[in-house]
Amino acid sequence: MKVTVDDDRCRGHGVCCSLCPEVFDLGDDGYAVVDVPEVPVEHEDAVRSAAALCPEHAITVS
Ligand code: F3S
Repeated sequence: MKVTVDDDRCRGHGVCCSLCPEVFDLGDDGYAVVDVPEVPVEHEDAVRSAAALCPEHAITVS
């Protein structure tokens, strides 16, 4: 599974980083960075939750 964050949509709410800090981080600009674009199986559920719960719908999984 792959994950991306749309920089144009992200507003730095940080839900993603709270749910799965192994994959998401907040950059120096306060917006999400994907550290691990190829999501390990053990983190897939957390990443799907982040995608569902991001208030800006900025996260896409494929
Ligand atoms: Fe940005 Fe959504 Fe995460 S707004 S910081 S991608 S929860």
